[in-house]
Amino acid sequence: MSQTIADLLSTRLNAALAASEFASDLPENFVAQIDQAQNRQFGDYQSNAAMVLAKQLKKNPRELAGIVIDHFEGGELCEKPEIAGPGFINFRLQTGFLESRFQELLADEERLGVSKTDTRQTIVADFSAPNVAKPMHVGHIRSTILGDSLTRVAKFLGHKVLSDNHIGDWGTQFGMILWGWKNLLDEAALESDPIPELLRIYREVNAKTKEDEALREECKSELVKLQAGDKENLAIWERCIELSKIGLQKIYDRLDVEFDHWLGESFYNDRLAPLVEDLIASGIAEESDGAICVFFPEVEQMADKPALIRKSDGGFLYATTDLATIDYRIEELDADAIWYIVGAPQQLHFDQIFRISKKRGQEADLQFIPFGSILGKDRKMLRTRSGDTVQLADVLAEAVERARGIVEEKNPDFSDEEKAEIAEIIGIGSVKYAELSQYRMTDYIFDWDTMLALKGNTAPYLLNAYVRTRAIFRKLGSDYEPGGAIQLTADAEKDLVLKLAQFAETVPAVLADFRPNTLAAYLYEVAVAYHKFWEACPVLKEEGAVRESRLALCELTGRILRCGLGLLGIKTTEKM
Ligand code: ARG
Repeated sequence: MSQTIADLLSTRLNAALAASEFASDLPENFVAQIDQAQNRQFGDYQSNAAMVLAKQLKKNPRELAGIVIDHFEGGELCEKPEIAGPGFINFRLQTGFLESRFQELLADEERLGVSKTDTRQTIVADFSAPNVAKPMHVGHIRSTILGDSLTRVAKFLGHKVLSDNHIGDWGTQFGMILWGWKNLLDEAALESDPIPELLRIYREVNAKTKEDEALREECKSELVKLQAGDKENLAIWERCIELSKIGLQKIYDRLDVEFDHWLGESFYNDRLAPLVEDLIASGIAEESDGAICVFFPEVEQMADKPALIRKSDGGFLYATTDLATIDYRIEELDADAIWYIVGAPQQLHFDQIFRISKKRGQEADLQFIPFGSILGKDRKMLRTRSGDTVQLADVLAEAVERARGIVEEKNPDFSDEEKAEIAEIIGIGSVKYAELSQYRMTDYIFDWDTMLALKGNTAPYLLNAYVRTRAIFRKLGSDYEPGGAIQLTADAEKDLVLKLAQFAETVPAVLADFRPNTLAAYLYEVAVAYHKFWEACPVLKEEGAVRESRLALCELTGRILRCGLGLLGIKTTEKM
């Protein structure tokens, strides 16, 4: 596909600047920016370039804008630009241009106007990463859903993305699990549903250790035995990991999330000792009170916060493992970039390991992509009624059950199988959309009623819009036939075409600051524009080019909603 509309306008605007009398005064590398118009009353796109320049050149912004406009050649693309307010330049696209863009988009079934990146990277995406034998709670849901969506977007843009589930499979929790396994395990419960049983053990031992000093010591010695390679403990540990993975996989299947690798913390065990030696030899790490640390004298806020990489008892730490992980990803997986989708409280940890990586001369582009908390309706951390952390598996089950209610009400005569399938799509889609429609740093309130509402910025609303785009072809009795005449007459049609053409500008913008919520907001606007078109423009009652164009609009809207929701990891349904 050709350039985006914003790019086309930008080329012409910059050409106008270069042709104007102050071309020689332009600051070096100055590029005039074009933005989508906030208020369509004044045009489709706008630029504040005249205001920015006027300030630098000490000129009157409206006057400067006028001169630029005189040199601007809109051609078939847009009408003569207008000046508004303090010196904004507004652009309105020609209907003929929208029609030809619409044709191009219809023919571009696979990419829908979105170009692939010309700076392809190999990216390792580190997300989800729950701790084995501990509950995977709703905090992990944010990482899983965000990471999956960012992975999908990056792949669509042409990057090579390897998703890696860096599970916590070597933590201190294994001391308790091992003791519990030997003393409290209910084999039958473990066989039928392992995760809750492992969790029960963990919770019970954890509670007991609170007032039992001797037990704490016993757990510790189980852990030491495991770390020293004791056969029995290793066998239990392995079984534990295996069972946990099966349980986790069920959740990922339901979420339709896939990992290329599951290289958990334990995978790096053998690499930790040599890594620490290397860091000491290169002068990056040093001894302090028997422990090995990396200090950051160059950063004021880290003055008293060294990164600990080997304890005085010889044990290694979370940071040590993460440093070894960076080496592996760069050397063995060829990573140009590594993305960590992890909660905001781990900011300091990642600051430190990124700095150490730089000290070692590594050049990979390391990105910490943090997120906030999920709150209950009381604005406190989300908890179950009994005060426990909320389990992800339970959330998903409840979402689907509630969605089933909607389906029963809307479509009582669908078959049971159909109802179940649609409820799964709506339920899981709603949980994902509630996450992805928020800016990731926002602490959002988890509320079933808002997330499952048929109106508003929700998954059910978007899915319903998609279903409408499909329903018309069922009514017509045939699929969309390409090649019809295109003619845009109503404003609602032009608005919708413009929105659809902006898919090409929206998808790459998601990666600018790792914000799938910009894509969600866009899809919502598409659905609203489609809804307006639907109210204003009859389709099947019309004839000729008008009817064909409107059918094509339904088709293209459907394709973009399906592709866009797919990039959020949300499946569509043909009926609901
Ligand atoms: N297991 C960790 C936790 O649940 C998250 C791991 C994130 N990834 C990493 N490479 N440190 O907090």
